[in-house]
Amino acid sequence: MPRLVGKNAVVTGAASGVGRAASLLFAREGAAIARVDIDPKMGAETAAMVRAEGGDAIFIETDLADSAAIEVTAQACREWRSVIHVLFNNAGIAESVSADVALFLASDKSSYVNGSVITLDGGRMGITPGTF
Ligand SMILES: NC(=O)c1ccc[n+]([C@@H]2O[C@H](COP(=O)([O-])OP(=O)(O)OC[C@H]3O[C@@H](n4cnc5c(N)ncnc54)[C@H](O)[C@@H]3O)[C@@H](O)[C@H]2O)c1
Repeated sequence: MPRLVGKNAVVTGAASGVGRAASLLFAREGAAIARVDIDPKMGAETAAMVRAEGGDAIFIETDLADSAAIEVTAQACREWRSVIHVLFNNAGIAESVSADVALFLASDKSSYVNGSVITLDGGRMGITPGTF
């Protein structure tokens, strides 16, 4: 018996890796999924895989390092479904690309997306359960 029938899930970083695997698992378990990622090409690949599992999913292209884009994304999720049951806040930059992380931290966006978005000044922003 699928365990997420009737549930609405938001998965960030859904275009590849752990987020892609979670999207496929959630689809097999019957959830509807809003997949959020910065990478539309890989996101489209994940969409095709989710559909092959019979899943119901939308893709929202977003840079989660951009606080304005996060609010637009949250609004899109709210318009998609009035209730979000599951938030898998997975988007991030793996440590194997630490040189890129250093560049990212030095940028004016100055945010490191890893689960939550952690700003350089120690504050936190991003999609959280409270966002919905
Ligand atoms: N794989 C590991 O061994 C490992 C270890 C510790 C932590 N993590 C964390 O787990 C999470 C997933 O790791 P993974 O191995 O699947 O990585 P991955 O690189 O395969 O996937 C990360 C996804 O996040 C997306 N992403 C990155 N920056 C983004 C942004 N600004 N806005 C929107 N999407 C963005 C990427 O496009 C990608 O699809 C990451 O947060 C990573 O830091 C992974």
